[in-house]
Amino acid sequence: MNMANHNNKSRFFFLFIVLVLWCVSSFGFGRVPFACDPKNGLTRSFKFCRTNVPIHVRVQDLIGRLTLPEKIRLVVNNAIAVPRLGIQGYEWWSEALHGVSNVGPGTKFGGAFPAATSFPQVITTAASFNQSLWREIGRVVSDEARAMYNGGMAGLTYWSPNVNIFRDPRWGRGQETPGEDPHVAAKYAANYVRGLQGDGPGNRLKVAACCKHYTAYDLDNWKGIDRFHFNAKVSKQDLADTYDVPFKACVVDGGVASVMCSYNQVNGKPTCADPDLLRNTIRGEWKLNGYIVSDCDSVGVLYDTQHYTQTPEEAAADAIRAGLDLDCGPFLALHTADAIRLGHISENDLNLALANLLTVQMRLGMFDGEPSAHPYGNLGPRDVCTPAHQELALEAARQGIVLLQNKGNTLPLSPTRHRTVAVIGPNSDVTTTMIGNYAGVACGYTSPLQGIARYVKTIHHNGCNNVMCTGNQLFGSAEMAARHADATVLVVGLDQSLEAEFRDRVGLLLPGFQQQLVSRVARASKGPVVLVLMSGGPIDVTFAKNDPKIGAILWVGYPGQAGGTAIADVLFGRTNPGGKLPMTWYPEGYVNKVPMTVMDMRPNPASGYPGRTYRFYKGPVVFPFGHGLSYTRFSHSLAVAPKQVSVPLASLEALTNSSTISSSALKVSHANCDSLELALHVDVKNEGEVDGTHTVLVYSKPPSGKWSDMKQLVGFEKVQVPAGSKQRVKVGVHVCDHLSVVDESGVRRIPMGDHELHIGDLKHFISVQTSQQIKT
Ligand SMILES: *[C@@H]1O[C@H](CO)[C@@H](O)[C@H](O)[C@H]1NC(C)=O
Ligand SMILES: *[C@@H]1O[C@H](CO)[C@@H](O)[C@H](O)[C@H]1NC(C)=O
Repeated sequence: MNMANHNNKSRFFFLFIVLVLWCVSSFGFGRVPFACDPKNGLTRSFKFCRTNVPIHVRVQDLIGRLTLPEKIRLVVNNAIAVPRLGIQGYEWWSEALHGVSNVGPGTKFGGAFPAATSFPQVITTAASFNQSLWREIGRVVSDEARAMYNGGMAGLTYWSPNVNIFRDPRWGRGQETPGEDPHVAAKYAANYVRGLQGDGPGNRLKVAACCKHYTAYDLDNWKGIDRFHFNAKVSKQDLADTYDVPFKACVVDGGVASVMCSYNQVNGKPTCADPDLLRNTIRGEWKLNGYIVSDCDSVGVLYDTQHYTQTPEEAAADAIRAGLDLDCGPFLALHTADAIRLGHISENDLNLALANLLTVQMRLGMFDGEPSAHPYGNLGPRDVCTPAHQELALEAARQGIVLLQNKGNTLPLSPTRHRTVAVIGPNSDVTTTMIGNYAGVACGYTSPLQGIARYVKTIHHNGCNNVMCTGNQLFGSAEMAARHADATVLVVGLDQSLEAEFRDRVGLLLPGFQQQLVSRVARASKGPVVLVLMSGGPIDVTFAKNDPKIGAILWVGYPGQAGGTAIADVLFGRTNPGGKLPMTWYPEGYVNKVPMTVMDMRPNPASGYPGRTYRFYKGPVVFPFGHGLSYTRFSHSLAVAPKQVSVPLASLEALTNSSTISSSALKVSHANCDSLELALHVDVKNEGEVDGTHTVLVYSKPPSGKWSDMKQLVGFEKVQVPAGSKQRVKVGVHVCDHLSVVDESGVRRIPMGDHELHIGDLKHFISVQTSQQIKT
C-alpha cells in the first residue's frame, strides 16, 4: 500500500465523518424539520414560522395561506404535505398506552430504536393506587416518545390513555383502563396525561395525549353485538356520575390536548356526530384546549354501518358541525368538499377544526423549525430503554401486584426452605402475554419462570399448550413435578386470544381445562401451592379460594416486560405486595343474569337487575373492589377530621330560587365551592414485622334517605410504613366534588345532613349545611 492511497483513504474517512456529523446536526437523529426549516429560504418570510408571534396569530396566518383542497387533506390522520409552504406530511395516529407502541401507523421500531420500555398494562398500574407512579410513567413514556420523534420514528400525538369505565367484567378492553371506579379513573387520567404532556412553559406540550373513547364505550363484541352497531342507552344520571367523570377530569384537571369520540351511539346518536357531547360538553363546558378526533373510521361507520345519515356528505357535515376536528380514516378527505359545495357546512366550519389541529401542532413546537432547538430536541436513542426506565417498569409491576389470599401465611416462600419449585401453567413462561394489548416492542423480558429461577431451582411444565387449554394430556408431568418440588407456583389466566379489542368474554371462569389443571396439580403437590392469575379482567376462582390445598392467590394483571421479576420478588418476600383491586371480581352467576348491553349502573329491584360495580351492586363477589392483602397488618386511626361544614351560596339568586335546594340537596352550581376542601388526617400504623405500603381508601356515603345506599370512593393516598411505625396521611375531600351526588336529571347536588366517611373500619360523620351567607 503506498502513501497516496493511504491519504486518499483517510481523506475519504474524514469526508465520511463530516457527512455524518452534518446529517446528525441538520436532521437531529434523522428527521427533517416538520415545517419552518431554517435552511429553507422560503419559510423565513412566513409569519406562522415566527416563534415570537402568539400561536393563535400564527395559526390564522397559516390558515389564510391554505387552499380549500389542502385544508380538506389536513383534517385526516395522514395529513398531506404542503411543499409550497415548506410543510411535511404528518401521521397523527400514534399510541402510548403503557409505553410507546407501534399499534398506530405513526410509530415504527427499528434502526436506532429497536424497542421501548413496556410498562405493565394499565389495569395493573391502576392497582398500585399510586398517583405519583402514574405521572412518572407518563413522564418516562414521553421522554422515549420524544426521542423516537427526533429520530424520525414516531409522532407527537398519542391517542392514549383509554379512560372508559370498566363497566362489565367481560369487556375485552377492560385491561386498558384504570378500572371501574370513576374517581380512580379520573385521577389516573389527569396524572398520566400530565406526565405525558409535561409541565412545559406556557401551554407548550411535550407530547399531546388523548383521552378516549368518549363516551359510554365499553363493549367490543359480545354475542354478535359489536361496537360499530351498539347503541348505548345511558341515563343522564349515569352519564354525569359515572361515564363522563374521567373525561371531565382528563380535560379539566389533566389539560389534555385531545379527546376521541367513540364508535358506538349514545341514546341513538353516534358520539362523533353529537354536538351536545362534543361542542357543548367537551369544548363548551369543560373548555378543551385541543382537538377532537374520531375513532378510526367512526365517521365512515356512522354512515356505512349505522346508516345515521342519508348521504356521506351529511355524515361529514354532521361530524364537523358537532365539533369533530380530525378524522382517523379517509372519510372527511373524500366527502368534505362536496359537503361544502352542497352547503351542508361552510369553509369557515372547516377553518375552526383546522385551527384546533394547528394550535396543537404549534404547541408541540412543530412549526418552530429545527427539532434539535426544541427543549426536548436532544433526546435520542440513548434515552430509550435506559436502566432507570426499565427499573420503573419493574417497580410499577411490583406496586401493581395484588395479594388476594394468603391462608396461614403461605407467602412469602423461603428460598432456603423451598429450594425446588415446580412452575406450572400456560402463562408460566410467557413474554408478550405480559404486555397485553396496545403495546410496542419491549426492551427485553423476564418471564415468571425466569424470575423464579433467580431465587431457586425450578421444574417447569406448562400443563396446557396455551390458555385455551383444550386438553388434559399434559397434566401428568405437571403433577409429577408438583409431587417432587418443595413448593408449587401455578401461573394461569388469560391472554389476547381471549380478551382483546374486538373480543369480549362470555364467561368469567378460567378457560378450557385450566381449572382442572390447577386442582389436579394442587392435589398432587408436596409443598405449599401458590396460584398466580395473569389476566386483565377478573376471573371467578371461587374453586381455588375454597381449595384447602391452595394457600395463596396473586393477581398480577399483565405486568409488563419485567413482570417475572416482580412476581418472583413478591413470592419470595423481597417485595411486600400493596396493590388493590381496581374492579369487582364477580361470580360467574352474575354475568348470566346481566346482559352486557345494559348500561345502567343502578340496580332495578323491579326487574331483578343487580346493578354494576361496587358502588351499586350489593350481591356476592369473589373479591371486592379495593381488596388487597399485605405481608403485614395495618391499622387506622383518625387524627384530624372536621365535624361540620357550611356551604356558602354563590349568589343572591341562588338564595331566593326555590330550585336551588330541592330534596334537601343544594345544587353544586349554586354553591360557592372555593375553600371547601376538608383535610382528613389519618394515622396508619404498621402492626407487623415487615415494612409495607398501604393505600388509605376514603369512601363517602350521603345522609340517609333518598341517596343512602350509594357509597363511593372519594379519596385515596398510598403510604410507605416501616414495620412497627406510624405515618400520618392527609386525604383531601372536597365538599362540591366528593360529597355531592347526581340526581335523575344529571344535576350534581350536595345533600344536606350527616355524611358518613368510611376509612377501613373507621366511620366518621361530617354535618353539611348551607350557610345563608352569599359569597361570590
Ligand atoms: C332558578 O334556577 C333555575 C335553574 O337554575 C333557572 O332556570 C330559573 O330561571 C331560576 N329562577 C329564578 C326566579 O331565578
Ligand atoms: C409511588 O411510586 C413512586 C414512583 O415509583 C415511588 O417513588 C413511591 O415510593 C411510591 N409510593 C408509595 C407509597 O409506595
